[in-house]
Amino acid sequence: MAGDVVAALNALLEAERSGAQALRAMIAEIPRGFARNEFEKARRDESVSCLGLIGAIKRNGGTPRRRQSEFTTRVIGQEDLSARLWLLARAQTWVLHGIDAVLAEALDPETEQFLREMRAVHERNIEWFNRTAAGLRRTAEPAAVAPS
Ligand SMILES: [Fe+2]
Repeated sequence: MAGDVVAALNALLEAERSGAQALRAMIAEIPRGFARNEFEKARRDESVSCLGLIGAIKRNGGTPRRRQSEFTTRVIGQEDLSARLWLLARAQTWVLHGIDAVLAEALDPETEQFLREMRAVHERNIEWFNRTAAGLRRTAEPAAVAPS
């Protein structure tokens, strides 16, 4: 059981590391301002997730994996910021399901508390990613009806 939990936590760690890297790459292309601050906040949330997951893995007797995922490259390869955010939101939704799977197991209180917080932050950030991606798409589209 503990081995399964450690493997699941390591899969989440890999996803969170990729999320942080993808956001870092996106931030590098965004001019300073309010929008960039929001991306910075999301990147910091991913970093906090990584730290928390590393702690949980160690508490459960495991070793944090250092593996890099190819996901970052896939995100950066998208055509624009909206597409990148949309893909990031899909991946973070996978993280949400992964958190739920681990929460279904018997956990130490600290790990459970951390995962519940991580879940709440992910719900909020996924909603923001989707909303921002949709807003960027609308801005990029030509007006359907020209003003008269
Ligand atoms: Fe995440």
